Amino acid sequence: MSSKGNDPPAPGGKFYITTAIDYPNSVPHLGHAYEKTVADFYARWHRQQGLDTHLLTGLDEHGEKIQEAAEKAGTTPQAFVDDQAKVFRALCQELEISNDDFIRTSEPRHHRFAAELFARLQARGDVYFGNYEGDYCISCESFYTDSQLQDGKCPIHGRPTERVKEESYFFRLGKYRPWIQEHIRSHPEFIYPEERRNEILSRLDEEVRDLSISRCTFNWGIPVPGDSRHVIYVWFDALSNYISALLSPRNLYERFWPADVHVIGKDIIWFHTVIWPCILHSAGHPLPRQVYVHGFILDREGRKMAKHLGNVVDPLEVARRHGPEVLRYYFLRAFASGLDGKFSLEELIERYHGELGNDLGNLILRVVKLVESKFAGCLAPGGAVEADLDPLPVEEEYARLVERREHHRALEALWAFIRKTNAYLNERAPWKESDSRANARTLYNALEALRGIASLLAPVMPRTAAAVAEQIGIPPAPGSLAAFGQTAYRVVRKGPLFPRLEAPPAAGAGGLPPAAHPQPSGPPAESDPFSWLDLRVGLIEEVKEHPNADSLYVLTVNLGSERRTVCAGLRKHLQPQELERRKVVVLANLKPAKLRGLESRGMILATDRRDGKVAPVDPGQAAVGERVQVSGIAGPAKPAITLKDFEKTPLRMKGGRVVYGEKPLWTSAGEVGCEAADGATVR
Ligand code: MSP
Repeated sequence: MSSKGNDPPAPGGKFYITTAIDYPNSVPHLGHAYEKTVADFYARWHRQQGLDTHLLTGLDEHGEKIQEAAEKAGTTPQAFVDDQAKVFRALCQELEISNDDFIRTSEPRHHRFAAELFARLQARGDVYFGNYEGDYCISCESFYTDSQLQDGKCPIHGRPTERVKEESYFFRLGKYRPWIQEHIRSHPEFIYPEERRNEILSRLDEEVRDLSISRCTFNWGIPVPGDSRHVIYVWFDALSNYISALLSPRNLYERFWPADVHVIGKDIIWFHTVIWPCILHSAGHPLPRQVYVHGFILDREGRKMAKHLGNVVDPLEVARRHGPEVLRYYFLRAFASGLDGKFSLEELIERYHGELGNDLGNLILRVVKLVESKFAGCLAPGGAVEADLDPLPVEEEYARLVERREHHRALEALWAFIRKTNAYLNERAPWKESDSRANARTLYNALEALRGIASLLAPVMPRTAAAVAEQIGIPPAPGSLAAFGQTAYRVVRKGPLFPRLEAPPAAGAGGLPPAAHPQPSGPPAESDPFSWLDLRVGLIEEVKEHPNADSLYVLTVNLGSERRTVCAGLRKHLQPQELERRKVVVLANLKPAKLRGLESRGMILATDRRDGKVAPVDPGQAAVGERVQVSGIAGPAKPAITLKDFEKTPLRMKGGRVVYGEKPLWTSAGEVGCEAADGATVR
């Protein structure tokens, strides 16, 4: 076998990267969006490095489950997938996926190649006809052996499998076991990450059975050449997309095959690291250089997001509500490459305010404003350069981490540099300094840093990077960085890149929330005591009477990531059933205190009503665990605060809302309210 596929791409060479092709039997979910974003990041990075890059994504449109979904929808499979394809293409557009092609397995160009590949394996003597009996999971479109089943159910979907007995064509997969073992052993880069490689190697120590590659009980698929009673097994069909898409409309096979990276999730690793290479080997095609296996996006409870669990989050909704680039950033920064991670909108919002708004947004705003006010917007090279702010070493570190497929760490390195630049500005304080030469030097160095930042940000947040470049007057996304101290700058001030989320977004509204207020410029503001508070939405799950205090309830409150015991003085005001399953706002970082012998961890915010009763404030439909915010005040909460600290942040009622000063408290579900008179204190 040619070793061509395993050489690293030469500079100025090519880079062919693919995603798995999605089943369009339902709407796209976050897992699909995540995978495309990761692949797009690597594609954009390599394109920026000057490689001729080709990114392929698409749809896996055949098979029994698509046929069933179409039947349920009362339409034909073709009409069904045609409709679904629009939705999946829209997802790519929305997320700014820079795919060069979108393959659909129902296209004639794909049919042609898949059938040819099948025939080629037959000609090699690697296909035979026989009978198959096995346990089939229609959701995976895959057979399982007894030892793979868990309690007789599919190990992925937890559903009963179907006993299938039918005649079938088989591929002599077993024969290639020693060969694929040797390939994986001698090419450590073939499977990323290493844990997955080890997993496959140990699975290969067991028997590898020949693979059934046709089905004859339904007909939505590609007919087996010379035997139209059978359709080609959907996985054989699907895998061949990685080549079929290169053959037409233009023949790009010579240019791009073998693939440099197949990006896939961990549930389909066997198909990509064993079955596909063996098919390619049998047919005489070179092998892909790498299969990159990402982790799963999990829900809050740590379960895989999956249609059959009903915990799927709509990526289009998140992208529209919070901005597609914010979602891209969150995916690439918060989910460690190759590992599973939990999805939390609250974390996304926190990163938006902290890393994007405070770190990056604030840096660009400060620099541009100062260059404008002190140097009429223009700064030319000259004066001493600050080696510390030279972006080149950061670029090298970033490139090294990307090459190792550790994109989340590349982003950490970039953010360390952003913070360093902010710290440098704070230290030099050009807003206070009157020496114009010193200021020119400080700000020129900061602009140089921003040039590097724009370049390294481009594969992650292409539009934001272009906006940074525009504001400092350089072309968008330069390739490799020019030497330090050679660029002339002319800044153009624009609105803030990451406006504060002033008001909760209107449900279903597009883009970022409408109202925004500019971020602070100049020196960072003294942290407002409100930012010390960790106010969270909690759900009361249990209400008990305190054994030693008539006025207290002992509540079990779910805060999303944990459950807490909180003692609350509500017993004279509310019945247990009025509190059970109620959402409340909890001061979660109040120092734990013993109340009549029981430890209370946190305080429920409440206020006095006109009728003399005390009522907890109401966060509406906000998600459990979500942080309650005030616009314009962000920052990490203190690990623990005292009641005295809390008293420094007077919260009062105004017009049915809880306000801090004049600003309402809010969550993504709306403002936090309570039925109490204006002026009542919230405590
Ligand atoms: N059609 C097959 C792939 C054929 S590739 C030749 C398939 N489709 S899928 O729609 O079920 O999954 C598409 C991709 O999304 C897979 O790589 C899968 O691992 C990934 N994800 C599906 N759910 C996921 C999460 N919850 N999290 C991250 N990615 C996961 O399999």
